[in-house]
Amino acid sequence: MSYVEIRNLKKKFGNNTVLDGVDLDIEKGEVVAIIGPSGTGKSTLLRCLNLLEKPESGTIRFDGESYDLTTRNAREIFALRQHTEMVFQQFNLFRQKTALENVMEGLRVVKKMSRGEARTAALAALENVGMQDRIYHYPRHLSGGQQQRVAIARALAMKPQLLLMDEPTSALDPELVQEVNVTIRKAADEGNTILLVTHEMPFVKSVANKVIFLEKGKVVACGTPREIFEHPASDRLRQFLIHINMLEAAEYNI
Ligand SMILES: Nc1ncnc2c1ncn2[C@@H]1O[C@H](COP(=O)(O)OP(=O)(O)OP(=O)(O)O)[C@@H](O)[C@H]1O
Ligand SMILES: [Mg+2]
Repeated sequence: MSYVEIRNLKKKFGNNTVLDGVDLDIEKGEVVAIIGPSGTGKSTLLRCLNLLEKPESGTIRFDGESYDLTTRNAREIFALRQHTEMVFQQFNLFRQKTALENVMEGLRVVKKMSRGEARTAALAALENVGMQDRIYHYPRHLSGGQQQRVAIARALAMKPQLLLMDEPTSALDPELVQEVNVTIRKAADEGNTILLVTHEMPFVKSVANKVIFLEKGKVVACGTPREIFEHPASDRLRQFLIHINMLEAAEYNI
């Protein structure tokens, strides 16, 4: 039994089948990267896991506790949301709150911590991402990279069993990508379990334990970065890697 088990996740928008029965196992402390062409359902997959979308079917199991991802029962939604946190491409910080207040919010409202406890935990989380000097700054006075580090601190402070990240660096200027990647790597090194969608293949190669190639709503290939990038077993995966310049076409006569 894996630490997180996702089974038979299906999602349609009208007649458009976006996720076509996705199964996924994630081990504790693993970084699992989801790669694949644009429009293939990567964001939708994460959004279904965080109940931001309602799928047609699907379950997720954490440590033996199973949840129906189609549920609209408020208590079940609350219980399931305790297990995951999401980091978005656009940071999604509360604009009217300081960095510190952003991190404290979930600790107060969801974890029901006292103000003092929440402040202590939030300060530790912000220090962990190197933002201790910016705790009273509002998002508009922070760079994109700093905002994303606050968003990561906010997510990690909640101690989720699974951290979901949807292209956390793709909205950043190139020179800011590295500082966020360093923060993600640190979170991985500290044993957090992460499901990451990204188009940054060198980062995937260096940080992921497992890579999932998603295409047209199906898991077409799954393996270690070595298996996926150096010995791709499926034609579709090889074509994708050639398309993004991660593989020499000549090698495969494609
Ligand atoms: N709210 C929505 N309503 C209708 N269709 C949607 C909605 N959200 C996504 N889609 C469609 O679902 C499909 C998958 O979209 P999704 O955003 O999950 O792709 P993606 O793999 O994350 O792509 P990208 O790499 O460009 O971020 C696309 O065809 C998209 O148009
Ligand atoms: Mg997306």
